[in-house]
Amino acid sequence: MVDARRPIALSLPCFEGDEIEGLQRVLASGWVTQGPEVAAFEREFAEAHGASYGVACTSGSTALHLILAALGVGPGDEVMVPSFTWVATVNAVLLTGAEPVLLDVDPRTFNLRADVIASRLTTRTRAIVAVHLFGLCADVQAIAAQAPGVPIVEDAACAAGGLHRGTQAGSLGVAAAFSFHPRKTLTTGEGGMVTTSDSALAERLRRLRNHGASMPSDLPSPPPPHAMPIVSELGFNYRMTDLQAALGRRQLTRLPGFIAERRRLASRYTEGLSDLPWLRLPAGQPGAPELAEHTFQSYVCIVDEAALGRSRNDLMDELAAAGIATRPGTHAVHMLAYHRERLGVAPGVLPGATICDGASMAIPMHNRLSDADQDYVIERLRAAV
Ligand SMILES: Cc1ncc(COP(=O)(O)O)c(C=O)c1O
Repeated sequence: MVDARRPIALSLPCFEGDEIEGLQRVLASGWVTQGPEVAAFEREFAEAHGASYGVACTSGSTALHLILAALGVGPGDEVMVPSFTWVATVNAVLLTGAEPVLLDVDPRTFNLRADVIASRLTTRTRAIVAVHLFGLCADVQAIAAQAPGVPIVEDAACAAGGLHRGTQAGSLGVAAAFSFHPRKTLTTGEGGMVTTSDSALAERLRRLRNHGASMPSDLPSPPPPHAMPIVSELGFNYRMTDLQAALGRRQLTRLPGFIAERRRLASRYTEGLSDLPWLRLPAGQPGAPELAEHTFQSYVCIVDEAALGRSRNDLMDELAAAGIATRPGTHAVHMLAYHRERLGVAPGVLPGATICDGASMAIPMHNRLSDADQDYVIERLRAAV
């Protein structure tokens, strides 16, 4: 029986009311598809992430696909990707026709291990996707040092507002893909953004987002009625709407506050849980440099089943019965049915990702989590043994 008095969500979006005014303004303007709000959101988001250009799109998945397509990744190419990530990261590579090379992660950070890269480099390696999982940036400098000249694409789906050694997520590689899904710190319902400081890449990203079309640069103003876009390559419709951008612009102004509150909640989890021998808390503990840079988009622990005396899944069932939502952190893509068959990664080859797949557990973390509810989560976890 679920304790219905106290359902505590794993994650909740946080809207404070003035989003309505932004949406009403867009509706009243009559321009609801990509328009002035998208252009403003792109500028503001890029600036907040230390990049010159923002290219808004429909999701984090399409942002990743756009980047790889704009880099010219295609059949015959290989792209390195960590196995422990949301399946979208690997699918973006598969959709270009390139071959994903799945690599292992460090269960302490949940991010790609730099030391496994050099041995997997080939003449076909076209890019490395560094995933900033759960809001902690991958060590992009260490990864780049192992693969000189190979473009690093940031999968920053979880890392809006994140930092790595003082540099913003979104300006650590050649381009970055952000997600605005409701489980992310900043949400537009669905939505995504690419950031880059490469002007030629930004231009191609914009073209590919819109069916490969662009307006001729030598048009008079106003353009004649017969002016039509030039379609110079095969592209997609990955355009964001002005309604989503109006939401995103308001959410962006709150992002620093959202992250500060998540760090406060993370510190409260540390205080309440760090002595439990069966639970390993995420990177970003007091004294560690990650604390000031992690955005805690999710708060993901590792459960030591032997020390706990039962399985992670049994624990998750018990917490659900107590009204507390949890989820596995994410999955190891090499263990998913379709990808196992298609990519043929042998069991045991990626031990870090396999451990994370079976032992990771996300516990409630969002900007509407009250201290009282968090105390209850802590109390139930402490009572687990
Ligand atoms: C690491 C990672 N990459 C990519 C995505 C895809 O983002 P979206 O859901 O906006 O398509 C997600 C979303 O959950 C993610 O967590």
